[in-house]
Amino acid sequence: MLDYRGYDSAGIAYFDRGIKIHKDVGSVEHLMQSVPETIASNIMIGHTRWATHGAPTKLNTHPHLSFHETICLVHNGVIDNYKELKAKLTEQGYRFYGETDSEVVANLLESFYLEEKDVLLAIQKTKALLHGSYAIAFFVGDAPDFLYVMKKGSPLVVGKGKGFNLVASDASPMIEHTNDFLELEDGEFGFLSQDKVVIYDEKGNEVEKTPIHKDIELISHDLKGYPHYMLKEIEEIPQTISRLINAYFQDGEFRFDKDLLTDLRESDHILFIGCGTSYHAGLVGGRYFEKYKKSASRFIASEWAFHPTYPGKKPFIILISQSGETADLIHCLKIIKEHNLKNLIITNTGGSTLDRNCTYSLLLHSGVEVSVASTKAYVAQTTLLAMLAAALEDDKAVVADLRQAINVVNDIQDHYKPAIQEVAKELAPHKNVFYLGRGYDYFLSLEASLKLKEISYIHSEAVPGGELKHGPIALIEPGLPVIVFITDPETAPSMRSNIEEVKSRGAKVYTISTAELSSPEDAVVVKDYAYYLSSVAISSVAFYLAYYVSLEKGLNVDKPRNLAKSVTVE
Ligand code: G6P
Repeated sequence: MLDYRGYDSAGIAYFDRGIKIHKDVGSVEHLMQSVPETIASNIMIGHTRWATHGAPTKLNTHPHLSFHETICLVHNGVIDNYKELKAKLTEQGYRFYGETDSEVVANLLESFYLEEKDVLLAIQKTKALLHGSYAIAFFVGDAPDFLYVMKKGSPLVVGKGKGFNLVASDASPMIEHTNDFLELEDGEFGFLSQDKVVIYDEKGNEVEKTPIHKDIELISHDLKGYPHYMLKEIEEIPQTISRLINAYFQDGEFRFDKDLLTDLRESDHILFIGCGTSYHAGLVGGRYFEKYKKSASRFIASEWAFHPTYPGKKPFIILISQSGETADLIHCLKIIKEHNLKNLIITNTGGSTLDRNCTYSLLLHSGVEVSVASTKAYVAQTTLLAMLAAALEDDKAVVADLRQAINVVNDIQDHYKPAIQEVAKELAPHKNVFYLGRGYDYFLSLEASLKLKEISYIHSEAVPGGELKHGPIALIEPGLPVIVFITDPETAPSMRSNIEEVKSRGAKVYTISTAELSSPEDAVVVKDYAYYLSSVAISSVAFYLAYYVSLEKGLNVDKPRNLAKSVTVE
């Protein structure tokens, strides 16, 4: 199941003396209550939907049945021209039950299928009209032993088994059943039966595909005694950091691909591109590279894709994505490739679309991250970026600093949770929160603020300390919680002045500082560490805080509303 990615409704369909569909808003567990225990069918399709076109309602939930009830379909992606197609089909007498673009595809396929009486021809005619992205699986009531697939822009992987075949948006949900996979390229389509997989290229010629053997980690649903994945994943941070050190620093030497280091050294500008938490890791990464005299810029993927800029004569692009499947980033990669620019993906997911298609790939080795809110992967991204930047000048001191950071994280885990929980109790009833920091602490504030937003639904803003007076201070009012990070010796005095500014306007300040920069009234004082590693060493304070606020409010910590773990639509 891909339910770990986040969704708002779920459904399945199969053929048992007719097309049978079970679907509803809510969880897979809820859906399964209405599904018979044994099903006699040679095929089955299932889908977890994250609403884009149309609200999360039962009618908008996949699988979709075509108007004349011949085609049953699930779709991942976005069809840009679905309104025009829907209008044309409506003229032909088609009626629609929901508002999704996917239902339009089911009907378009049906219109061609009824005309041609040939599914493959219907696929080709449909493909020619669709603008947008799709990974589609469907079956036809007349031929219920075959599952048809088509792909463009959205990932689609076939799992080959003995006496069965599977298809999914990524390999992970199939790994329990097989290790052999076929990856479909854009434009390809085909069909699967119990013992056969036939794939055609864009032009309709059959293509021979050699299965790729993958030993990816099984998505563990074992909470190992933790009440939530998020808590488990925060507590895995120390081992995440040490695993990365072991992977990329052995026998006293950095172990990165030599060509990668050469390309990075030879480039005159490094661009960091990511979304959400991964973008925040890129902000930190850019600063690490600047530390070693590389010029750097940072971009949000969905912004850069519509206005790509390449500073410098020889730019090198570093893409960052926990999942390796984020559509906004895949869009960027397409542009990067059109310009023949060297690129690197930093991802937690071996075998993902970005892992397979970038010039270089560095894996985070963090183990599967199940909770929608990213925690250990963010720390892994910033850890890896610190090491990669240091490797350019063989600055081994970074490794010792990272080891020291592990001690700080362990110490936070062992001693600080009760204090953070107290702050969380006070924050929970509020509607607005501010985070303040400067430099690395500002980058950390952005991530801390996003985390709180994602899982507690409290509106929160991260502001650079110096920028407060240029606008945001207008919002400071009595009782407003302001969380301040003070871990950088250079900016600490200015941050203390900021605290006075907000306090004098009635804000309730909670300061997170390091021992050497602390003041007696600070809420959380952690051990000292190399200040440039704040994202690695003390982000767990911010993660625990968001976690406890969410718990305090009785919310779904691991699957917050409206969010998906892997956003495969733009
Ligand atoms: C989604 C998640 C965010 C995540 C972002 C980027 O929006 O809800 O938590 O940071 O995607 O994901 P990626 O897999 O590319 O790092």
